[in-house]
Amino acid sequence: MRLSSRTSKLKASPTLQLAARAKELSAQGHNVISLTVGEPDWPTYDCASRAGIEAIQNNITKYTPASGTVELRKTIAEKTKEDLGQDYALNEITVGPGNKFVIFQALQVLCEAGDEVIIQAPYWVSYPTMIELSGATPIIAEASAASNFMLKAKDFEKYVTHKTKAFLFCSPSNPTGLHYTEQDIKEFAEVFRKYPQIMILSDDIYNRLLLDGSRVAPHILHVAPDLKNRVVSFNGGSKAYSMTGWRIGWATGPQDIIQAMGDYQSQATGAPSSIAQHALVSALKKGESDIQKTIQLLVHRKNIFMSELYKIPKVHVYEPTGAFYIWMDVSSYLGKKYESAVIENDRQISQILLEKFFVGTVPGTESGMNGYLRLSFATDEKLLTVASQRMKDFFSQLS
Ligand SMILES: Cc1ncc(COP(=O)(O)O)c(C=O)c1O
Repeated sequence: MRLSSRTSKLKASPTLQLAARAKELSAQGHNVISLTVGEPDWPTYDCASRAGIEAIQNNITKYTPASGTVELRKTIAEKTKEDLGQDYALNEITVGPGNKFVIFQALQVLCEAGDEVIIQAPYWVSYPTMIELSGATPIIAEASAASNFMLKAKDFEKYVTHKTKAFLFCSPSNPTGLHYTEQDIKEFAEVFRKYPQIMILSDDIYNRLLLDGSRVAPHILHVAPDLKNRVVSFNGGSKAYSMTGWRIGWATGPQDIIQAMGDYQSQATGAPSSIAQHALVSALKKGESDIQKTIQLLVHRKNIFMSELYKIPKVHVYEPTGAFYIWMDVSSYLGKKYESAVIENDRQISQILLEKFFVGTVPGTESGMNGYLRLSFATDEKLLTVASQRMKDFFSQLS
């Protein structure tokens, strides 16, 4: 019994495991196309990379304040005003090594045993374990296909109890690439007003990668600024600025929570990388035209990928409005046979696709919903076409 009981619930991230298996097969010489990891395949923008190099050359390589440099927090304040329409003071902003870790910290400082945190299914694979590690219990509210896999406020309310501490969600969503409309969020605001103890944890990591022409995804602060004292918003460099490896993210929210997060971080990691912080200032100030080019690229790839996936009989693909994922319903193939083995769930589908057809996908079960695959199109368009053909080939062999 070396390991703590807290650790007994710990699961490694399934998407990272799948990506590792895809890499293993590639190393064995197979031509694997991985649609698994939620990571841009285009380089970090020049403006950010050059600032990173400048930081190293100019000795901007020392500890910074635990919550991030004043320069970066000022820049985040300006960006947040532009995107969410709200003013945040420097002590209402904290910077950490990635969006994931700032969400983790927020859960750590807010939750304890006995608390419940509501998330919707399909969910981002990391949410349940992060909630469990805070001591709280994840409560999973299933969103339906009819509501585009985004939970409706009236359905959310059915899961609220006196133990509900927070609602954690991302929009656009990982895994579906679909997002809440302004109307959806207004309905949520009505429900939130009825339950003042519930904190609203808004993961905005994809909120600038909109494929429907809008600049930024609808946000609770756009429609209900009166709830500002209960909202913590999370964002970062990883997706819109293609800075996954730099490990840099931030949170904005009420001063007491942000202060506690900064204190937690000061004991956990010290401070985020000074180099990554310097690079993010430049990305936030100068990266706008790069984001526009990224969106054009993503829309182009999405259109190609969708038109290929439409050719696969009896699957249903949901056209994404944001991020770089396609959510594909493969449930009509459950119960069919592949080489005499009955396909019982989407994990099997994903496994055969990887091991036999060399296409890496993430099963919906990892996001709490059996019968789906998440396909990332942050991949070269020619590969998307080949991957679609391989999937078509696989499904045609099921009987
Ligand atoms: C919904 C969601 N939140 C957070 C993250 C993590 O972002 P970061 O790389 O900044 O930790 C991801 C990455 O896959 C994500 O999909």
